[in-house]
Amino acid sequence: MNAIVIYKSKYGSTKAYAQWIAEALSCQAVDVKQIKIDDLKDYDTIVYGGGLYAEVIAGVSFITKNLEKLKDKKLVVYSTGITPLDCRDYYDKLVLEKNFKGDSLSYIKVFNFLGKMILSELSLPHRTAIKALKKLMSGKENPTEMEKLLVELCDADGDFTDRDAIWDLVAYIKN
Ligand SMILES: Cc1cc2nc3c(=O)[nH]c(=O)nc-3n(C[C@H](O)[C@H](O)[C@H](O)COP(=O)(O)O)c2cc1C
Repeated sequence: MNAIVIYKSKYGSTKAYAQWIAEALSCQAVDVKQIKIDDLKDYDTIVYGGGLYAEVIAGVSFITKNLEKLKDKKLVVYSTGITPLDCRDYYDKLVLEKNFKGDSLSYIKVFNFLGKMILSELSLPHRTAIKALKKLMSGKENPTEMEKLLVELCDADGDFTDRDAIWDLVAYIKN
């Protein structure tokens, strides 16, 4: 197996998982900024990780837009976010529909991990976006369960990363 882990990470959670996965696979973890699609020719296994921002897996188009060139490889994408992992409707519908069009999921296996959100570390635009989202969702008269959860998540302030969460992904690649 000749694998590479590629990541896009603003606050470090996706990068931490990339490093843990790369260590488990004895391969390199590389920032997507340092990679061009043609650099991937010689790898048979590609893992891509991105943080979730408004349900979008940061930078995942690097994989989905280049699928024709990558289809013959083992492809894994992981997201990191603060939505609880048992919100399967969120991950299996909203996130998948937003990020993977057409038949792309027949070539890509997706995993989800918990990330971190430390409010005091957020950039001003991100802090403003979270505040605006909370205000919008709190103002709803009859909020759905998802809207109530979103209000709670706007206050999630912590590091929920979990090194042991990588093992299903690692096993999938090794098998
Ligand atoms: C503006 C903003 C939007 C976010 N949107 C989502 C989201 O839609 N779903 C989610 O689960 N987490 C969301 N998060 C939390 C991030 O996905 C989480 O902090 C992630 O681990 C960040 O990855 P990184 O540390 O690699 O940048 C959001 C955070 C910010 C600041």
